[in-house]
Amino acid sequence: MAIIIDGKSVADKITEQLKQKLSQLQDKPHLAVIQIGNNAASTIYVNLKKKKAEEIGIKSTVINLDENIEEKELIRIIQELNKDNSIHAILVQLPLPKHINENKIIKTISAQKDVDGFTAQNTGDLLNGIKPKAYPCTPKGVLKLLKEYNIEIQGKHAVIVGRSNIVGKPLAIMLLNEHATVTICHSKTKNLQEITKQADILISAVGKKIIFKDMVKPDSVVIDVGIFKDENGKTTGDVDFENVKDIASYITPVPKGVGPMTIACLMENTIELFKNNKKRV
Ligand code: GUN
Repeated sequence: MAIIIDGKSVADKITEQLKQKLSQLQDKPHLAVIQIGNNAASTIYVNLKKKKAEEIGIKSTVINLDENIEEKELIRIIQELNKDNSIHAILVQLPLPKHINENKIIKTISAQKDVDGFTAQNTGDLLNGIKPKAYPCTPKGVLKLLKEYNIEIQGKHAVIVGRSNIVGKPLAIMLLNEHATVTICHSKTKNLQEITKQADILISAVGKKIIFKDMVKPDSVVIDVGIFKDENGKTTGDVDFENVKDIASYITPVPKGVGPMTIACLMENTIELFKNNKKRV
């Protein structure tokens, strides 16, 4: 029976520390969150971010924009936020409507305010082993969980299922920087099970039920980044938790696993950008 990694309590601990840190500061960080349209999942995430920011003492402004907003108008709004000295961190909630080019939007965000660590400068720094202004929140949260539970990364075979720009790709680089041997699997991977079975650390970030007991090496560490509603409307993850927990050494649940860590890391990134910004002026 695996040890259940309690992401919620690790995230709560980080929240407490951040609250303490901010209570000693006169000026407060200010996070701007842009949501375009009203994708139900995005609304839930944006509300969670706003609530957590309030709890910690971070100012947050949510900018709700119409689903049909023109790309150039969105770019103009981001440029305004880049120039606004009272804003320290900018987050554009993804996914974007189809008529808007995600890469173009991310390119517009100033690297100094890029709280997700998605811009070319920050991802490039990450790739080159230079500390970026901010690390992508979900990969950062996964690494913090592994460290909190003293799970060794160096020399281990980490298998990531999912190659998104938000999770899979940056997480692969971050694990590589921690000296893991990294394999990324995706929708075109042949013999997925053969590869996942080799994982010392198996991380799934797909968004559908894909990891079953016969795909997991006994005593491995299983991290579930997926979160979605099943056919009964219940929140669940990529991993068949009930069966996999019997053979893994460590496993994250969904909910209360990686999710709360993503938000805690977003808060930490906001405060870091704020502090760097103060140093520059
Ligand atoms: N949509 C899902 N996850 C994320 C994230 O980490 N950042 C942003 N901006 N959008 C997301």
